[in-house]
Amino acid sequence: MSGKPWRILMLNGPNLNLLGRREPAVYGATTLDEIERDCRVVAAEWGADLDFFQSNHEGVLVDRIGAALGHVDLIIINPAALTHTSVAIRDALLAVGLPVIEVHLSNIYRREPFRHHSHVADIALGQISGFGALGYRLAIEAGVRHLQKS
Ligand code: DQA
Repeated sequence: MSGKPWRILMLNGPNLNLLGRREPAVYGATTLDEIERDCRVVAAEWGADLDFFQSNHEGVLVDRIGAALGHVDLIIINPAALTHTSVAIRDALLAVGLPVIEVHLSNIYRREPFRHHSHVADIALGQISGFGALGYRLAIEAGVRHLQKS
């Protein structure tokens, strides 16, 4: 790759800090630290710098999205439970206008009906749901391929 690295902001919402111990039958045994390490390797392979961040607080995530303007090329987000509730995260993503990829470890459409609606899905380039930690790697590849085309 030549030129400047792509800048990817990868955001994780509430309770994802507990991955590995949290409902492993649903979310797998991989910890968030392991996902971060793996994503750093994959991002480097795709010529991207990765800013990896998790918060349990909606406003903190909104602030990180707002601060991305002018500093980030692509946002990859697993908003966790906020997927289904947060108009504020949706509005922040719309405000910065950056390409977004939504990731979920579990297949949210095979779960409780309240998880079937996402406030992010219709403003995202796409959604990857149900492939566990692999979804984050796939999102990096899909995101960089999108940036390369645009
Ligand atoms: C999740 C799915 C959400 O419904 C849930 O609240 C999460 C994790 C996932 O990655 O599968 O916390 O986003």
